[in-house]
Amino acid sequence: MSTAPLTWESDGPGATAALGALLAEALRPGDLVLLRGELGAGKTTLVRAVARALGVSGPVTSPTFTVAQRYEGARAPVAHVDAYRLGGPDDEEAELLRDAVAGDAIAFVEWPDAILEALPEPRIELELRHGGGDRRLVLLVARDPQLLAGLGRQLADLRARHLNSEPEPGARPG
Ligand SMILES: Nc1ncnc2c1ncn2[C@@H]1O[C@H](COP(=O)(O)OP(=O)(O)OP(=O)(O)O)[C@@H](O)[C@H]1O
Ligand SMILES: [Mg+2]
Repeated sequence: MSTAPLTWESDGPGATAALGALLAEALRPGDLVLLRGELGAGKTTLVRAVARALGVSGPVTSPTFTVAQRYEGARAPVAHVDAYRLGGPDDEEAELLRDAVAGDAIAFVEWPDAILEALPEPRIELELRHGGGDRRLVLLVARDPQLLAGLGRQLADLRARHLNSEPEPGARPG
């Protein structure tokens, strides 16, 4: 089954963070989110925004030298894996990864493709694409039709609010 992905056109880190805040409302403990996209596309920026919305106050950076990072957010724990440097999990790594994303945390995995076999079924999959300058196109896929419909409505609301908060080109005051 393949449905068309939802999309979010981001014009800067703030707009990507707004998507993160929206996701923080939709995600539940135990959910896994896969994040794809080139270097610098904004995957960690998005995770940071979700973590902030879930009450994580300390720094949120890519867990480059550890397999996974865990944050105790006031609203929910957050797990963050960056598999960029993993060629494919050996047994020990696979177990660490499974432990990291299992349980009560809302879990995010950047560069998931090399370690897919070690991961449970994701709830949401996101792809961030560079669009020139600060523009990014975010594609969002979820298998659960109810979740997808809810996110679609929330994205439409967010889009309307975002457009309203920007001055129209050529608009005159008064
Ligand atoms: N619209 C945007 N959305 C997200 N980040 C943006 C946007 N425009 C500019 N940026 C900048 O791009 C950079 C994105 O870096 P980030 O670490 O989030 O990327 P990443 O996808 O996690 O990369 P990596 O694969 O190296 O981990 C940040 O410096 C951020 O400020
Ligand atoms: Mg990153």
